[in-house]
Amino acid sequence: MIFVGIIICVISYLVFDFLQCLITLKKSKLPSLPILPLLGHVHHFLGSTNATFEKLLDIAKTRKSFALFFGSIFTPYIYDFEMVSHLIKPENQMYQKAAQYDFMRVLGQRQIFVDWGTQYKESKRVLIEAVSHGNLKKYITSFNRNAQNLVDDLRSKVGGDVFDLKAELDFHAISILLDTIMGLEASIMTRDEIELFGKEYSKILKYIVRRGYKVWLYPSSLYKFSNLFKLCNQSVSYIRKVTRKLIESRKEKFEVSELNGQKTLRTSVFIDKYFVSKKDDGSDFSIEDITDDVLALLGAGFETTVSSLSLIIMMLSINQDVQEKVFEELKEKLKANDGYLDTYNLNELQYLDQVIHETWRLHPPVSSIGRLLTKDIVLPNGGYLEKGTNVWFYITMIHRDPKFYPEPEIFNPNNFLPERVKERPPQVFMPFGFGTRKCFGNIFAKLVIKTILCHLMRNYQFHTTKTENDFQLAFEITLKNKIGVPVSITSRPKI
Ligand code: HEM
Repeated sequence: MIFVGIIICVISYLVFDFLQCLITLKKSKLPSLPILPLLGHVHHFLGSTNATFEKLLDIAKTRKSFALFFGSIFTPYIYDFEMVSHLIKPENQMYQKAAQYDFMRVLGQRQIFVDWGTQYKESKRVLIEAVSHGNLKKYITSFNRNAQNLVDDLRSKVGGDVFDLKAELDFHAISILLDTIMGLEASIMTRDEIELFGKEYSKILKYIVRRGYKVWLYPSSLYKFSNLFKLCNQSVSYIRKVTRKLIESRKEKFEVSELNGQKTLRTSVFIDKYFVSKKDDGSDFSIEDITDDVLALLGAGFETTVSSLSLIIMMLSINQDVQEKVFEELKEKLKANDGYLDTYNLNELQYLDQVIHETWRLHPPVSSIGRLLTKDIVLPNGGYLEKGTNVWFYITMIHRDPKFYPEPEIFNPNNFLPERVKERPPQVFMPFGFGTRKCFGNIFAKLVIKTILCHLMRNYQFHTTKTENDFQLAFEITLKNKIGVPVSITSRPKI
């Protein structure tokens, strides 16, 4: 009898849950795929991250903004111009991140990428200063030094076989971030240790994405018993231990320099700002607070930078005419500046800018971003989204709107000629997000990417036998190309 009762309760719950999904979908007036009770659409996304990426693109090609259900979680994917323009209006207050972002908290409870409120505001105040225009110039020495190390590390590959450049990009990108964020010195961490740090960090991001596709692991009470939790925790413990050690070492150095009256330290390293700032309640930032923020920054900056560099180098290797034009522009600027690269002439490389922007358009490193609605919203299609809905802006498809980019699937740096940019509304290009929660590392990131590219282009020509058809793009928080960066290099005459 009890057993029959339980069965009836379970079936009633499933029917009720399923009907709720259908009603929510009907109210939104968004297209969707057939929904399965309990699973929603999750069965479409159980394959590899590459297959998942392809599946989303596939759905988007045949429909305007659409809705999916992860279990019974209603998830609108928005990308057509009218919907995006409407939703991102300031009065809709898109400040809070979608529920899935909470999974990032495995890295630390204080999460600038996720939080909204006091913690967010006090960290943002410190970090905005660190990446302000005036301060950016101070990081260029680190960018140049690390980019030159990358050039030197590649010397043995000249004239040789195809190799995967991705591992080198990983190492040098994490080195730049550890250097500029925490003042890492070669004597503190060996190359092997830095590589291990980068790998463990990437593993954590991968585990976070895996949880996103396993709806049964959404409740923390179930996740805590999973193997994924165990694996993730191992990597997090390691990463936090190393980060804490680096912060303590920097703090010690900072205090000694302050005692000796040398106040110069605080200008070139992000975390120095924490040592001289207070939280809103007047207390100091603790080592744990700073560790949380550093890990959030690495999360935001590491793989996005590598993803950008990997795809730009592949696009340049495939499109040799574009690579030649980048090289010629660089040659001119270097000649005019005695071979020296600084923030000033980096900013003047207009064609390189066009190439970077076009790669970000076609392959945005963050392919979608999610927001939690804090009020009910009526959509331009007459549909209705309730407060509490997690809305995802599908940047990859926002960037492929034929109304604004003729032949949107084709790589064409001329899409970013200044006169073409002026003709378009700004919301059709958002590789760094939008509004108040837009990436504030964007100028910093572009400077890193440009510095590395200039050093590489100045010294080497890149070649590949692959085409864009060989790409295996995958969504793993950031966009990954599963084929890596298979290139060969030849040297350039010295300029
Ligand atoms: C090419 C490289 C980068 C890309 C494409 C990128 C992209 C993005 C995007 C799309 C967002 C918005 C996420 C959202 O709305 O949910 C974001 C946020 C953020 N990014 Fe970046 N990012 C890059 C590099 C960096 C770097 C180097 C840093 C810092 C060192 C950084 C720090 C942040 C932070 C702190 C946020 C959160 C801002 C907030 O929520 O208010 N990013 N980034």
